[in-house]
Amino acid sequence: MRASKLVYSDFRSMCCIGLDFPDGAILRCGFDRRFWSSGAAAAENGIDGWLRYAPLPADLLQGAASTPTAIVVLNSTDSSPISIAAREVQKGLQGIFGKNLDILQPSAARNGSHVVLGTLSAYNTGWGNLNVSNLAPDGYFLSVRRGSVSIVGRNERGVLYGAFAYLSRIAQGNFGDAQFVSNPDAPIRWVNEWDNLDGTIERGYAGPSIFFSEGTVVKNLTRVSQYARLLASLGINGLIPHNVNANPSILSDENIDGLGRIADVMRPYGVQLGISINFASPKSLGGLNTFDPLDPAVIEWWNNRTKALYKRVPDLGGFIVKANSEGQPGPLTYNRTLADGANLFARAVKPYGGIIMFRAFVYDRFADWTVWKADRANAAVDFFKDLDGKFLDNVVVQIKYGPIDFQVREPVSPLFANIPKTAVAMELQVTQEYLGQQSHFVYIPPMWKEILDFDMRVNNKSSTVRDIVGGRVFGQKLGGYAGVVNVGTNTSWLGHHLSMSNLYGYGRLAWNPKQDAQDLLQEWIRLTFGFDKTVLDTITRIGMESWPTYENYTGNLGIQTLTDILYTHYGPNPASQDNNGWGQWTRATTTHIGMDRTVKNGTGNAGQYPPEVATMYENIETTPDNLILWFHHVPYKQRLKSGKTVIQHFYDAHYDGAANTQTFAPAWENLRGKIDQQRFDEVLFRLRYQAGHSIVWRDAICNFYHNLSGIPDEAGRVGKHPYRIEAETFSLKGFTLTGVNPPETASNFTAIWTTPRNGTGEAVTTLDFASGTYNIAIGYFDIIGGRAHYSAYLNAIPLYEWYGDLEDRLGHAFSEKLDGHSATRVTIPGVQVKRGDVLRIVGVANGNETAALDYVAVLPEGIVD
Ligand code: GCU
Repeated sequence: MRASKLVYSDFRSMCCIGLDFPDGAILRCGFDRRFWSSGAAAAENGIDGWLRYAPLPADLLQGAASTPTAIVVLNSTDSSPISIAAREVQKGLQGIFGKNLDILQPSAARNGSHVVLGTLSAYNTGWGNLNVSNLAPDGYFLSVRRGSVSIVGRNERGVLYGAFAYLSRIAQGNFGDAQFVSNPDAPIRWVNEWDNLDGTIERGYAGPSIFFSEGTVVKNLTRVSQYARLLASLGINGLIPHNVNANPSILSDENIDGLGRIADVMRPYGVQLGISINFASPKSLGGLNTFDPLDPAVIEWWNNRTKALYKRVPDLGGFIVKANSEGQPGPLTYNRTLADGANLFARAVKPYGGIIMFRAFVYDRFADWTVWKADRANAAVDFFKDLDGKFLDNVVVQIKYGPIDFQVREPVSPLFANIPKTAVAMELQVTQEYLGQQSHFVYIPPMWKEILDFDMRVNNKSSTVRDIVGGRVFGQKLGGYAGVVNVGTNTSWLGHHLSMSNLYGYGRLAWNPKQDAQDLLQEWIRLTFGFDKTVLDTITRIGMESWPTYENYTGNLGIQTLTDILYTHYGPNPASQDNNGWGQWTRATTTHIGMDRTVKNGTGNAGQYPPEVATMYENIETTPDNLILWFHHVPYKQRLKSGKTVIQHFYDAHYDGAANTQTFAPAWENLRGKIDQQRFDEVLFRLRYQAGHSIVWRDAICNFYHNLSGIPDEAGRVGKHPYRIEAETFSLKGFTLTGVNPPETASNFTAIWTTPRNGTGEAVTTLDFASGTYNIAIGYFDIIGGRAHYSAYLNAIPLYEWYGDLEDRLGHAFSEKLDGHSATRVTIPGVQVKRGDVLRIVGVANGNETAALDYVAVLPEGIVD
């Protein structure tokens, strides 16, 4: 057997960081260090995202027949987007070609190949004659003729977007001539951050806020400026830094000034500031005794605050409002309509050209689950349909893509087809709240594309959701996109380097929703990791398989992400969906599962869609398998179009999903040496973690429905773990048996833990396996509140040692309890075992963290258990 002792803290200082450390990794790491010291790749921490401007490989550089010799700016002030565009082009060409170009005024331009930057009017007044009548606001014209480049915007922002588009082309080795106009699909392309004034971020998984700390705006806004640069490169033109669950004191004089500083930093990048406001502010901040939207004193209060805001931020984009939702105050308190509430603000910002993003996420969180026809999915249409036509023209209703809440699969929200006289925006979630919280990787654009390309068949005519959002179906001037991003101070921005593909994809789709999700992923890979074909192929595969894989091991057939909706929305807890007022019901019984949303027998939700779509969802035969449980309540043995029963599909999908997840980390490991060390290690660590946690998901969901329905798995896998030794069967000293909650998140429903919590425990077993080489996986629980310590010994020789410190290493807290969030595992690869070897594990609790073990799996190569 291998017996050298591996201590995680030693590894921190080494190049190789990961959950699983084979002894061989030491050798491999040594190799890598030598490799990197040869200058193969510079250290990178992700801060530049896709804007790295890395030198091109020599073979690609040969394609650049001639390169520009100077940059000419036609019109700019020091802090204008055009000036930023010029500096960005300078930086890009320096990085990519190693050429340092001067930035010149037109009068100083000599003969040569120039990158000319200016607005259309400046271009036609001072440089040439360009006829591009189809150039829309924020749009750009790009002409590349060998080394001569013209970048012309309808406005200054457009010039900056054109500059980034040009840089993206050459950074990807595309030196071909081109001449085209690119206009955004919709005017609103915003991001929402859910940052709190105290510096925490609601549903943020990458460290504290870059905007706020201790009740106010941070002093150093460098990260905000870096973020604005990333956003501008995608064509994002608005940002709301403050949580939709808004703190009224965002509107204090001090904070208005702080917001002004944020706006000042983002303005050169063309990113407008928007503000999230709390409906009750006149009362809670202003000291009035009411926040009734029709009360003159309330109106005056808002007008005054709005005036103060615009005084400090003259180009403020407007407000976002979450009203009467999840405990937030709103107009319904005073029997006023949601339109009364929205219009109050619309009037206040109108004189300044502002808009109101009014969220449609309004529902009753105390719904009665015993009522068969009650349905949260109906809420948005129920609340908003009759208000159509009552909103002022600078109100945009911001609608989440699905009727519930960013689930792994939902149909498109029917509200998009129900308020033709109202401008709408689609809210998408870049932060992976229900999709693994950046500890799992899910590339989301393929899901967004399904939503955007969905044809609502309004009036029986083609009416894709993207055309509705772009204002074309109902003739709206306003419309667009809001992406909930929640970046943090982590240099990777989102916690997982690969998750940045979601921000990239979001921005690029908001500019042009017709683009292909895989093309966008590959653009992002080239810009983020370079040109190696194996890198491209590997990340493309992982990325394109990631959403279906995650869906497979979390929630199938439209049942939603079967996570713990009463706690942290992360690990599995299918029972938490039902029997409470939140309305994310599955209606699972011992015989049936799924929401009956038909008109004939259920909640009537299918009838909220235009007739052709309504008919499709009303009938089980025409409802696609992947939404069958969203729309229909069926027996577990209902046959799908695939030929499988619902329950067997659940089992198979979970086993397939978890098995496929096991392939991601090894595929990534093949990229060792092709990606800089830090990003390589950090991604590897998370992919390995995901592999372990996908098994937690698989087992919890399969066991739950197996127990509930009593229907066996045709393949005989569920509940059987031939390679595992349950911790409760070890001989124990200091450890005692415990159940976990939910029970199915522990193997055999039982774990062991140290009691008292600050104690030490020892668990010993004899390995009754044929002698050979095995991967030893140890299931344990990592709760927050301390860093428990574990050491494993084989025949008294130290084998492996680790800490329960995932909260540090994954950058977000999971749970204080033993459950599906805290359940995880480590794998020690390549251990030589002889029949009769003795395995001993010592756990030492720390702080509030108990040491808790679930099982040990002794796995022959290729076996997943
Ligand atoms: C989800 C999320 C909340 C958030 C809410 C919203 O429910 O869990 O944290 O506040 O959406 O979008 O307003």
